[in-house]
Amino acid sequence: MQHFQLEPWLSSQSQRAESALLHYLDSENSIPQLLHSAMRYAVLGGGKRMRPLLVYAASELGSKENLNPKLVDSAAAAIEMIHAYSLVHDDLPCMDDDDLRRGRPTVHKAFDEATALLVGDALQTRAFEILADHSQADGAQTIAVRLAMIEALAGASGSKGMAGGQAIDLQHVGKKMDLPALEQMHAMKTGALLICAVQLGGIAAQVSKEDLKSLHSYAKALGLAFQVVDDILDATADSATLGKTAGKDAANDKPTYVTLKGLDYAQELAKELKGRALNSLSHFGPEADALRYLADLVVDRKK
Ligand code: IPE
Ligand code: IPE
Ligand code: MG
Ligand code: MG
Ligand code: MG
Repeated sequence: MQHFQLEPWLSSQSQRAESALLHYLDSENSIPQLLHSAMRYAVLGGGKRMRPLLVYAASELGSKENLNPKLVDSAAAAIEMIHAYSLVHDDLPCMDDDDLRRGRPTVHKAFDEATALLVGDALQTRAFEILADHSQADGAQTIAVRLAMIEALAGASGSKGMAGGQAIDLQHVGKKMDLPALEQMHAMKTGALLICAVQLGGIAAQVSKEDLKSLHSYAKALGLAFQVVDDILDATADSATLGKTAGKDAANDKPTYVTLKGLDYAQELAKELKGRALNSLSHFGPEADALRYLADLVVDRKK
């Protein structure tokens, strides 16, 4: 077995994610052109594509013969569309009120607020349309797989997942939060979609129930780590590096691991969570190397 190399894997799988997104986004010539242009602006041209990368990495746990790469691509595109929509809405004046995202003006600045609202609505429904599409004459088994993916993505995006976490976030502006409540908020607003990403990859590759459980515990730790690191970077990095406004959590008076427990605690926690994520993969062989390297990437990232 060849030694896993992160750089070639990252560049090929990132390209694969871009191609999948390009394939599934409507052209800016489709009517209404303004909305389709704004949807493309929100999704294309930036972003680490961490959720599609997790989908691809998790799909490597399945057997190659069973793997339907197009199905995996549809999951990668669908979850990135949900994520992009969550960012567009997160930046709106009624939420975090941010002007900068992925190094460019936010959608409501480049277009207008109503368009940004509709971009979120339309990206969300497009994600489910992509997963539900069985025009490729899928067999009954693939239809069951698609249904399981739709169920996972809907649950992770809704009131008990990302949207619910965002609601808790907004309710606590300027308020204190204890540690369990903070952890729950992070698990919902960010962790749920990261868990969903690996579940989608695992479901598409038809991995065993046991392996899905391991993926779940890997991503539970990694999802929390992801938001802890986001909080750390907000407090320590600059806007040019981040491509989004630094210091926004303090400015908006948001409870985070940094504001609540301090930088050292947050950094230690991120490291510990990475260890937990890696432990969940200990019984896998080299087929889990991409997941292992993504754990490093999430925790050691600079933006
Ligand atoms: C930012 O997500 C919002 C959070 C959920 C913390 P990312 O850091 O993945 O943002 P992009 O996609 O790379 O821009
Ligand atoms: C956002 O958390 C989580 C989402 C569901 C979008 P943040 O508000 O901290 O994300 P950034 O820092 O603006 O990317
Ligand atoms: Mg926010
Ligand atoms: Mg924000
Ligand atoms: Mg943040």
